[in-house]
Amino acid sequence: SGLITLDPGYKNTGSTTSAITFLDGEKGILRYRGYSIEELAEKSTFVEVAYLLIYGELPSQEQLNKFQNEIKVHTLVHEDIKKILEGFPSNAHPMGVLSSLVTSLTAFYPESLDPNRSADKVNLSIIRILAKMPTFAAWAYKNEVGHPVNYPDNRLDYCSNFLKMMFALPAEEYQVDPVVANALDKLLILHADHEQNCSTSTVRIVGSSQASLYASISAGINALWGPLHGGANSAVIHMLENIQKDGGDTKKWMGKAKDKDDPFRLMGFGHRVYKNFDPRAKIIKKAADDVLSKLGVNDPILEIAKGLEEVALSDDYFIERKLYPNVDFYSGIIYRALGIPVDMFTVMFALGRLPGWIAQWKEMRENHEPIGRPRQIYVGHNLRSYVDMNNR
Ligand code: CMC
Repeated sequence: SGLITLDPGYKNTGSTTSAITFLDGEKGILRYRGYSIEELAEKSTFVEVAYLLIYGELPSQEQLNKFQNEIKVHTLVHEDIKKILEGFPSNAHPMGVLSSLVTSLTAFYPESLDPNRSADKVNLSIIRILAKMPTFAAWAYKNEVGHPVNYPDNRLDYCSNFLKMMFALPAEEYQVDPVVANALDKLLILHADHEQNCSTSTVRIVGSSQASLYASISAGINALWGPLHGGANSAVIHMLENIQKDGGDTKKWMGKAKDKDDPFRLMGFGHRVYKNFDPRAKIIKKAADDVLSKLGVNDPILEIAKGLEEVALSDDYFIERKLYPNVDFYSGIIYRALGIPVDMFTVMFALGRLPGWIAQWKEMRENHEPIGRPRQIYVGHNLRSYVDMNNR
């Protein structure tokens, strides 16, 4: 074990080379395939960003049309998947439902299990999962509220189709609000990739055993679920609501976050890599103001969030530890304004992160990376003799 370097949480260990996402935590830079997140959020669309991440270049108009049409052909899911959905109790968390439905694709498309299938077939799996995730996500929500599911409407763009499946009620003329669809599209772009974070590393390590794309993505969804990762966006809203109920005393909650005997952490604050600011949080904070005012929503917890940020940014504890608001701090406030319930927030994150997971899985395969297998330093007992039951 003398040769093994110990690095819990892989704080300083590079697990791979990658040409997908560049991140400079000191300078607050994030780029997908060389394009800055600021420019992409302003000028691109989520589907175009998905193409960029997965295939490496921005698509021509023709390539984009083909990609969009291919996705539209596959949005429908097998009717038997509805039976799996119906087996879940209505209080099932939508993240668990989502990962299960994604895993079920291995049964409906067993050819996806073949690690030696052609590049065209791999591409078909990629298109299928991009097309079906919004359907699964909306259905996970419908299961929760006990409403009949909606089928995809392929006349609509990616986000509008999702919103309609999510919110339309039977026999209702549902019109997607373009302000809502655009805000969602921007949020998904900001979440689309973030190099070797917990869920992406999970996707790569599961995929490194040559498990299928669907099995790998499903594992990524489960990794994202935790409150220190994607689950933070719902945890932020619960925290802000608690502060609100408590009379809005941000200083008191700040004290709890600093108290080492209190397990409470300021959710939506801090990042493993960003030590100056999270560029996504900057864009999202501005978008939150913009979207709320366009929709005419007045959410008192936005003011609490801003107050909390102000107090934290001038507090020595947070300054010394370089803790800044991260992507999850303001995203939930936008989701709330769009009418998306809190326990669907992490599902929204998963929808956004999907192209990144796919791109990273594809890169890992194409680079023929070896199976992921970290080592350990053993600290348990030395050899000892088995003790009979009556002597224990
Ligand atoms: N509130 C209070 N103290 C904090 C916080 C926080 N949010 N984040 C870090 N610290 C303290 C931590 O207690 C430690 O203090 P000390 O040095 O005295 O022991 C120090 O700052 C360093 O923290 P760490 O836990 O060693 O840092 P890490 O890189 O392992 O963790 C993190 C990063 C994001 C898990 C952590 O900052 C955190 O728990 N934040 C809250 C959850 C959150 O917002 N997660 C979303 C992350 S961004 C998007 C995503 O990944 O989904």
